[in-house]
Amino acid sequence: MPVRKKRRPHRLVFGQPLIEEPEIREVVDCLRSGWLGAGPRVHRFEKAFRRYKRRGDAIALNSCTSALHLSLLAAGIKPGDEVITTAMTFCATVNAIIHAGAVPVIADVDPATMNIDPSSVAAKITRKTRAIIPVHFAGRMCDMDALCRIAARRRLKVIEDCAHALEAEYRGRRSGTFGDFGCFSFYATKNVSTGDGGMILARRRTDADRVRRLASHGLDKDAWARFGGKGFAHYRVVEAGYKCNMTDVQAAIGIHQLARVEDNWRRRRSVWDRYQEAFSDLPVVRPSQVEPKTRHSYHLYTLLIDKDKAGIGRDECARRLLSLGIGVGVHYLSIPEHPYYHANFGWRPQEYPNAMRIGHQTLSLTISPWLSDPEILRIIRAVRRTLLGR
Ligand SMILES: Cc1ncc(COP(=O)(O)O)c(C=O)c1O
Repeated sequence: MPVRKKRRPHRLVFGQPLIEEPEIREVVDCLRSGWLGAGPRVHRFEKAFRRYKRRGDAIALNSCTSALHLSLLAAGIKPGDEVITTAMTFCATVNAIIHAGAVPVIADVDPATMNIDPSSVAAKITRKTRAIIPVHFAGRMCDMDALCRIAARRRLKVIEDCAHALEAEYRGRRSGTFGDFGCFSFYATKNVSTGDGGMILARRRTDADRVRRLASHGLDKDAWARFGGKGFAHYRVVEAGYKCNMTDVQAAIGIHQLARVEDNWRRRRSVWDRYQEAFSDLPVVRPSQVEPKTRHSYHLYTLLIDKDKAGIGRDECARRLLSLGIGVGVHYLSIPEHPYYHANFGWRPQEYPNAMRIGHQTLSLTISPWLSDPEILRIIRAVRRTLLGR
């Protein structure tokens, strides 16, 4: 008799995006159209994004990293200026400040919200400070009242890093509309994904025009205006720009992803709620309640695992879950723990104790709308088994 092999359960990829037929068809149509670069689909995506946000001017780019970089340049940040951001973020936030020629300054986070602590920001301001980049971590809005008050008092620019916070709101106002610029990511694991991609929401028309120019070599006309629908036109280089535009192939995905943004948000919220309930008796710290009058975008679901309390450390927990086919993430080791920043800015992790502790204990579980109900149950069981040994 043939030996039947026991089938291993498939691996659940962390943050797998939910790609559906409309975007697949749109990509195929785009490929067949012969126009792959920035063109009519990018314009459609920008228009839909602006409508979703209800304010500002939207410029589609190749990444949120570019969005942060170009926002800093358009904000007039000059070499030697200081820009304050959080010690608990992805390195792109800090690298964009460095690439703009400015000096990054980091502030510690509030231990409950994991967001930049306004009192720590206030303590870091010097005569050279020109801007603040709050990061709405995991999809939870920062304390924008306090941060905008500090910025107004000290005449600082505000650039919101909304990479995690597409659907988030604070007192009825949408993320990315508080600052001079809001920067969004459509990276593979983000709530709306185009594989890679980004968007800037600029409050002022003049800033939006500058960003558009910077994103396209400093030309006074984009490719669609030069060769597209209306025929041939000369361009002029008016400044030494960069190459950061989105393509129509990416926008073809984004248009349909954005059309389902609220459905997917509801699905992630329900996964989040199930995790919150299922893990209530575990010896770990779950995400804190969503603050009143705010809307969380439910990008990351993070548990804090303290080895002294759980009897198992974060890294061991991650290894065991991976061995059970459950994809997990770490968001993030705190910024000062990375050797480059330590060597170049002298930052020491102990000086940012809240961010450091979170960085050592945090573990992200996937809440992708792609997950089926049995898969959610499988994750819950695996986490419980890993932490309780049963
Ligand atoms: C907080 C934060 N900022 C910026 C970025 C950079 O986004 P992108 O990959 O679109 O450049 C990321 C990406 O993961 C992020 O998590």
